[in-house]
Amino acid sequence: MLDIKFDLTKEPKEKPQGPLGFGKIFTDHMFIMNYTEGKGWHDPRVEPYHEISLEPSAMVFHYGQEMFEGLKAYRGDDGKAFLFRPDMNAKRAIRSNERLCIPTIPEEDFVQAIKAVVNVDRDWIPTEPGTSLYIRPFIIATDPILGVAPSKTYLFIIILSPSGAYYSSGLAPVGIWIEDDYVRAVRGGLGYAKTGGNYAASLAAQVKAHDDGYEQVLWLDGVERKYIEEVGSMNIFFKIDGKIVTPMLSGSILPGITRDSVITLCKDWGYEVEERLISVDELLDAQKSGKLEEVFGTGTAAVISPVGKLRFGNEVMVIGDGTIGEVSQKLYDTVTGIQTGAIPDERGWRVEVN
Ligand code: COI
Repeated sequence: MLDIKFDLTKEPKEKPQGPLGFGKIFTDHMFIMNYTEGKGWHDPRVEPYHEISLEPSAMVFHYGQEMFEGLKAYRGDDGKAFLFRPDMNAKRAIRSNERLCIPTIPEEDFVQAIKAVVNVDRDWIPTEPGTSLYIRPFIIATDPILGVAPSKTYLFIIILSPSGAYYSSGLAPVGIWIEDDYVRAVRGGLGYAKTGGNYAASLAAQVKAHDDGYEQVLWLDGVERKYIEEVGSMNIFFKIDGKIVTPMLSGSILPGITRDSVITLCKDWGYEVEERLISVDELLDAQKSGKLEEVFGTGTAAVISPVGKLRFGNEVMVIGDGTIGEVSQKLYDTVTGIQTGAIPDERGWRVEVN
């Protein structure tokens, strides 16, 4: 258990009015904790949100030794604040840290730190439909040394951002570009870890896709460039001939918490759910024979995001009629309903901040 010190601001900022966007506004406070080899994680504290100062030689700037997480807080009518499955983020953070040689943080401490800072800034949790307080925990390597080696010092920081929908189109279906040149990750690489490098690797293809009018990139496997992996900021699901199909966790894709929740819900609702290899050719065939019924992405930031169009080379697969599909809508309503408390949480996914 962390012994967290609190230094609260005397000059609270104005809360935002109007549309929030995603990740643009930050609250009054942040959590911060240091790591020093031989001493472990130490000095956990909640402080006014502030700039941090690092030496230009800090390892994170050169070799990208860093990890991050993403989760959200919601506020009930009674003023209570809730998180969605924070234990899953804490467990995934441990796996990312291990992959990146960053010292791990015990699950209970990770969740305690999140609760501590969210509790202090609970008035910042927006309550308009489709909004939440996005929570961004991250760890950076701070040794001021240019040799390539694991750092001996780190900072663990949590910042909070009142946010709206990740995509400006909200629940309108997005267009996705299937990338057949660049790859995001390979098995044995960093694909399953939540680390900045995976997102840096995605930018060139994202720019290409945007230039062509597509919102996001769908990655293929790094070896054969044949099998579907994930989208830049979400996992991907298909409804093919009545079955729910999603790429299996092969090591090169992110084990999404919304992905896991969607699989559980679909199974509970009686759908056959397959986690397996899915080739682009299978998708093209399914689309041509009218069996590709729905496509949607899942992610903490994106929640459930319907896909209306997939482009691969010269082929453009149009999915549905330009509106959100039935299963995608039901999943969106159920996931957000559980998160906000609008529908009962039978699985213990909603965790109160206290
Ligand atoms: C999240 O969904 O929380 C993510 O981390 C995706 C992000 C890159 C916006």
